Amino acid sequence: MKGIILAGGNGTRLYPLTYAVSKQILPVYNKPLIYYPLSALMLGGIQEILVISSPRHLGTFRDLLGDGSQLGLNIEYAEQAEANGIAEAFIIGAEFIGDDAVTLVLGDNIFHGPGLGRMIQAETRNVDGCVLFGYSVGDPERYGIGEVDADGQLVSLEEKPTSPRSNLAITGLYVYGNDVVDVAKNLRPSRRGELEITDVNRVYLEQGRARMVNLGRGFAWLDTGTHDSLLQASQFVQTLEQRQGVRIACLEEIAFRMDFIDAAACYDLGSRLGKTDYGKYLMEISRQARQD
Ligand code: DAU
Repeated sequence: MKGIILAGGNGTRLYPLTYAVSKQILPVYNKPLIYYPLSALMLGGIQEILVISSPRHLGTFRDLLGDGSQLGLNIEYAEQAEANGIAEAFIIGAEFIGDDAVTLVLGDNIFHGPGLGRMIQAETRNVDGCVLFGYSVGDPERYGIGEVDADGQLVSLEEKPTSPRSNLAITGLYVYGNDVVDVAKNLRPSRRGELEITDVNRVYLEQGRARMVNLGRGFAWLDTGTHDSLLQASQFVQTLEQRQGVRIACLEEIAFRMDFIDAAACYDLGSRLGKTDYGKYLMEISRQARQD
């Protein structure tokens, strides 16, 4: 299974914050936004990852994450010249995907909840068609929306409908079989002139090959699209981290717990972060693991 993080776009809704920097590099409490979707892929056991961003910002992500080897990952990079739509990720990433299945995560989506990793691992095993993750929201007109029947089967998909048929938003985490590359290549741009992810998903729905997993109430799927929601996401992470004394989307810790790197490497990554609480945390968890 390959993973793609789509981290392009112009971030216009967050101006002036994003005049000069990429949206997905903005801080969410104590780490860059892109750490959160990357952590979801890592928890799902995915180690081969392509980061796609605009030519202007791609270098920042390369500076931040490198080739991924420090985290036991293999991270590659590709440019999206213009924001031509989310589904263009599969065309840009065609060579990277090769003959594999692929999980796409939007670089501004934050997921947090019990068993997230196990769930992604289960849904990415032997995927045929596509798997979508639904989440109940209070403002469905802002998202791709899925309608399910009494048995939980997906029956319709609409992008930002003015009169939503349900409040089940389709989150920015999508799992596909290898044929998604062909589906994307055969797509026509929407009225907005974009290759829409919802149009990709509709192809699978029409073929009876789209599955919907409802994330349920115990999960948090956080929005980062506005100044307020970005601040709220930071406060959410701060509250949980301070209350529980553990870290959310701490890439080094996840790499260690997923066995991508060993305790010594995790300690080393912590020591490089100097006297920050983040670095101390990494050194402490690896020290504890070596004592167990
Ligand atoms: O967050 C989930 C929602 O994401 C879904 O419910 C919608 O169905 C889906 O269309 C998308 O809606 P958004 O309104 O959030 O899409 P937006 O155009 O803002 O793009 C989402 C992210 O993807 C954003 O961080 C920028 C990035 N992006 C977007 C486009 C269109 C790219 O990197 N390249 C692109 O061409």
